[in-house]
Amino acid sequence: MTKKKSAYSCQACGAVHFKWSGKCSDCGEWNSLVEEFEEGGANSHFSRITIDKKSSKNSNNKLDLIALDGEAQDFLRIKTTINELDRVLGGGLVQGSVILIGGDPGIGKSTLLIQTADALAKHNNHIIYISGEESVDQVRLRAKRLGISQAGIQLAATTNVSDIINSIKPDKNCPTIVIIDSIQTMFLEELSSAPGTVSQVRAAAGELTIFAKKNNITLLIVSHVTKDGQIAGPKVLEHMVDTVLYFEGEKDLHFRILRAIKNRFGAAGEIGVFEMNDIGLSEVNNPSELFLASYDRDTSGTAVFAGIEGSRPILVEVQALVSPSYMPTPRRAVVGWDLNRLAMVIAVLGSRFGLNLFDKEVYLNIVGGIEINETAADLAIACALISAARDIAIASSTIAIGEIGLTGEVRMINNLEARLKEAARLGFKNCIIPKANEKNKNFAALKKSLPDLNLKTVAHIRDLAQLFKK
Ligand code: TYD
Ligand code: MG
Repeated sequence: MTKKKSAYSCQACGAVHFKWSGKCSDCGEWNSLVEEFEEGGANSHFSRITIDKKSSKNSNNKLDLIALDGEAQDFLRIKTTINELDRVLGGGLVQGSVILIGGDPGIGKSTLLIQTADALAKHNNHIIYISGEESVDQVRLRAKRLGISQAGIQLAATTNVSDIINSIKPDKNCPTIVIIDSIQTMFLEELSSAPGTVSQVRAAAGELTIFAKKNNITLLIVSHVTKDGQIAGPKVLEHMVDTVLYFEGEKDLHFRILRAIKNRFGAAGEIGVFEMNDIGLSEVNNPSELFLASYDRDTSGTAVFAGIEGSRPILVEVQALVSPSYMPTPRRAVVGWDLNRLAMVIAVLGSRFGLNLFDKEVYLNIVGGIEINETAADLAIACALISAARDIAIASSTIAIGEIGLTGEVRMINNLEARLKEAARLGFKNCIIPKANEKNKNFAALKKSLPDLNLKTVAHIRDLAQLFKK
């Protein structure tokens, strides 16, 4: 009997190490290395999925090279009719594509998928829902609670990939969509490692992907984001699939954001917003209204920022709290923004605006649990900080957009038109924007098209002083 070689693979990033250590040297995760056995030999699973046997035997095959400028067939898309989901996918599910949906356990992945299955089944699609986590009864009960009773959805509870592949018969008359919930429970008998390990998860996803591509089946794979490092996360599958969506949100808040991280058939970065209530997920078509729901225009320490998420503008409220500190190093804490960026804005305000916060604790919160990564939020954050420190509310109905440089200059931002239109739509009257944006050739036309908005341009953060006069 040949001895199996062992290796240690990181369950967070998939890197393989030949020695165990407490920390993965590739991704820096602690306690994530798990011993797995390499299944060697020509019949091993890995050689089967990576090399097509026929082509490897006959390596003299010549490739047919063709010109780039030929006719190409457009992708066939299946609309789910859930608009927020269709937008994130780039206009619907591409037939025959593989989509990975990642997210924390309990965030609502199964709920989203059963609702998607329902919407698809209503439009003559053939849906197969494989649950590896819940029994058929559990899935049925949830569907019942959500008011779903589509005969077009076929259910099975199993974790064996070969059984799944042997039982699926693609429907010739309508698109077939298979949902796997979740990939961490699936296993291949050929592999000795436990379900949920990197090799099982990768091999199961690989096998299912090959089967789906061969039969033009659209495959939706659920994968949990894992915290303890003992189970492989969605990261190890991202390279294998066409589209990667992450379902995000705070568990105690109602709304959820579906974000495209990678999309071979559409734009990455696009988001869809949903609200979780007792009858499942419902679409939020006007997210700005949701994020500004409790915005009180007359309190100090708050400002509104018009951000861009994917192709869509979203208005969010920024709140700051500045209080005296009795510590040698005052505390700085942020929720929803970058702590280093906050430190930079505080430093620039100190040396270029004359607002010293070195002996103050600073807390910053993007209301509603949404995460903002744009530098264009600098100006709104500076406004919230000045407003909090001086206890002066910003004139009501004001939004601020602009990036701040280290010399205190306010730099140009992109997508100004979309941001201003959203502000106007929600009844904002004053917009503080970078002076540098005036140079754009269509600025005059934009200004004319928004007669209700009072645009105030600033070139340097010291220009903000006039906003905060008592
Ligand atoms: P679920 O879809 O099971 O999460 P996941 O598959 O990502 O693990 O959703 C779980 C949570 O959603 C659960 O805590 C209860 C909540 N929920 C509702 O609030 N309303 C509903 O209608 C449903 C079905 C679930
Ligand atoms: Mg689930």
